[in-house]
Amino acid sequence: MEKPKFKTVQEVIEAGEGLPEKYLHTPTGDGEGQQPLNASVSVMDIPAIDLSLLLSTSEDGREELSKLHSALSTWGVVQVMNHGITEAFLDKIYELTKQFFALPTEEKQKCAREVGSVQGYGNDMILSDDQVLDWIDRLYLTTCPEDQRKIQFWPETPIGFRETLHEYTMKQQLVIEKFFKAMARSLELEENCFLEMYGENAILDTRFNLYPPCPRPDKVIGVKPHADGSAFTLLLPDKDVEGLQFLKDGKWYKAPIVPDAILINVGDQIEIMSNGIYKSPVHRVVTNREKERISVATFCIPGPDKEIQPAEGLVSEARPRLYKTVKKYVELYFDYYQQGRRPIEAAL
Ligand code: SIN
Ligand code: FE2
Repeated sequence: MEKPKFKTVQEVIEAGEGLPEKYLHTPTGDGEGQQPLNASVSVMDIPAIDLSLLLSTSEDGREELSKLHSALSTWGVVQVMNHGITEAFLDKIYELTKQFFALPTEEKQKCAREVGSVQGYGNDMILSDDQVLDWIDRLYLTTCPEDQRKIQFWPETPIGFRETLHEYTMKQQLVIEKFFKAMARSLELEENCFLEMYGENAILDTRFNLYPPCPRPDKVIGVKPHADGSAFTLLLPDKDVEGLQFLKDGKWYKAPIVPDAILINVGDQIEIMSNGIYKSPVHRVVTNREKERISVATFCIPGPDKEIQPAEGLVSEARPRLYKTVKKYVELYFDYYQQGRRPIEAAL
């Protein structure tokens, strides 16, 4: 199988030939968020939600649901605590991710993605010739459904990577089910309402991200502003190094680092299912000169056979239906993305 010719960011750095122009941004002066890339920004004010309380019918449970509602309808982001995954296990994921990216190039290249495939190890996906590249290397793996795993891209080293990713997937499934139910309840819908749209053949993709230190944080971006095409995304942001920012009312804010929390952000498909009540936030990652940053993102994507549309209970005369029915939204998402358009327009 043909491997694409690309240099990862780590290889660009090792080559020692300076910063290639294709990473440099020229501010356009229009569009979302006017602050310079390396401006200092305020911390976003989002709650930590106790997942174990969300499905309880107690007074505390109701309070937690209302916190969830308020955060998802303003920021589209929460920090989830008491999610049932131990600190030791999360540390293992970080450690294995770090170890994978620290391997020699030839070893990582064993997992290199092939032309036309998103799965595997590589740099930012190149979608057009004039694209400004993101300062990121990544390993992208589909973990569910299990029969769609491409095990040849799953690293054999570091030892334990494959087993741990399998175990992490199983653990995340429990969090995902609870979170879908809690979101439905927080909108006064029947608790399986979103889970039914999500479907039994739902896809989980996990992306391991490395952002090496960057010589020009004022001109180079880790990940360009985007909203996720998933239903929602579970993120383990770096435990020490900031970088993730969310856009609200035209201003960028940084995500706080909350030890042992899983950050969950709404994606376009929950924005559609909730008829626009829950927001799929625009976010980006900025770089820094000193420290590498690691993150692990899991995208929960409804099964390709599923039709996604606003839940009936959220459409009324007072709140008309905002989005049409979509299927295979992620494919539409990339079509629009490639044309430089906001993907959720595909559902308008
Ligand atoms: C992303 O949203 O694409 C990455 C988020 C992160 O690295 O924190
Ligand atoms: Fe994202």
